[in-house]
Amino acid sequence: MTILAIESSCDETSAAVITNGEIRSNVVATQLIHTLYGGVVPELASRAHQQHILPVADKALNDAKVTKKDLDAIAFTRGPGLLGALLVGTSFAKSMALGLGIPLIEVNHMQAHVLAHFIDDPKPAFPFLCLTVSGGHTQIVKVSSPLEMEIIGETRDDAVGEAFDKTAKLLELPYPGGPLIDKYAAAGDPNAYAFPLPEMPGLDFSFSGIKTSFMYFLQKQVRENPAFITENIADVCASIQYTLVDILLKKLKKASRETGIKEIAIAGGVSANSGLRKSILEMGQNQRWNVYIPAFEYCTDNAAMIAIAAHYKFIEGDFCDQTVSPLARMDF
Ligand code: KG4
Ligand code: ZN
Repeated sequence: MTILAIESSCDETSAAVITNGEIRSNVVATQLIHTLYGGVVPELASRAHQQHILPVADKALNDAKVTKKDLDAIAFTRGPGLLGALLVGTSFAKSMALGLGIPLIEVNHMQAHVLAHFIDDPKPAFPFLCLTVSGGHTQIVKVSSPLEMEIIGETRDDAVGEAFDKTAKLLELPYPGGPLIDKYAAAGDPNAYAFPLPEMPGLDFSFSGIKTSFMYFLQKQVRENPAFITENIADVCASIQYTLVDILLKKLKKASRETGIKEIAIAGGVSANSGLRKSILEMGQNQRWNVYIPAFEYCTDNAAMIAIAAHYKFIEGDFCDQTVSPLARMDF
C-alpha cells in the first residue's frame, strides 16, 4: 500500500511517500519570503505553495523511486491551517486522486503531529498523553489508539509557538524567532529574570498575559538602558524560554497525575526546543514517565506525519469524497 501525502497548511510545502507504514521520502520546501515581513503572510503563502507543490511532489515520488501508477491513495492536510494555503494542497490532492482513479484521504494536521511518533521507534504505548505545541496550537491530547484522540487541555488564547515568535519580535529577532530564542538561551541563565506565571484552571493554558509581561519588562529595561537587549540577549532568552517551558510542563505533570498516564510524548514545532526537550526528560526521570520526543525533522511541519496518519486511515478504509473542501478549523 503506497500513499503520496501532501502538507500545505502554513508556510511549508511538503510531500512524502509511505509504503506499508515505512516512510520512503519526505521533501519539505520552507517559504523564506515571510522572514521579510516578520510573520506568515497568508496570500504569499498560498502563492508559494502553488509554485512549490508540483516540483515538491515530483521530487517525493522520485526520491521514493515510485511512479504515479504505484500509488494506492493520495492524502492531504484538510485543516487546521491557513485557508488559501490548505486550498492549494487540497485541490492538488483531489485532482491527482481523480486523475488516477484512486482514493483520497483527509488528515487533521494536529493529529498528524501526534502520529509523527509512529514513524520511527520507539513508539509510545496506548494510552499516552501528547503535549502538542506549535505556532497555532497548544494542546494536551489523550491518545487511545492511532485514530482515537481527545483534547483534554488547550490554550484559551495564544499558542506557545506564537508566544515564542512574538517575544522574539520584541527582541528584534527575525521570523520565526522561536528557534533563535532557543539558540541564544543556550548561553544564558534561565533564572536571571523571573516572570509571573498565568493562573489558568484545569488543564488549559494561557499565553497572552505572559507575552504582555515580557513586553512590559523589555520596555522598562530598554527605557533605563537602550542597549539592554543586546547586552543581555542570552539571559533574556534563557529566562523567557524557561518560563514558557515551565508553564507547559506544570500542566503536563497535572494531566499525568489526573489521568494516571505515564507514557508522555511531545509533538509540533515547539517540540524542537532544546529547553523543552531537556526539561521533559528531567521531569520524566522524576515522575517515572516514559518520554517520547520526535526526531527534529518530524517536529516542524512535514508531509511524513500526514503520510503516517493516512496509513492508519487507509487500514480503516477511512476515505473522503472528491467534493471535500479545506477547513481553517478541523476538529478531531
Ligand atoms: O508545527 P509547526 O512547524 O507549524 C505549525 O503547525 O504552527 O510549528 C512552528 C512553530 C513556530 O512558532 C516556531 O517558532 C516554533 O514552532 N519552533 C520553535 C523551535 N523550532 C520551531 N520554538 C522554540 N524553539 C525551537 N527550537
Ligand atoms: Zn504544524
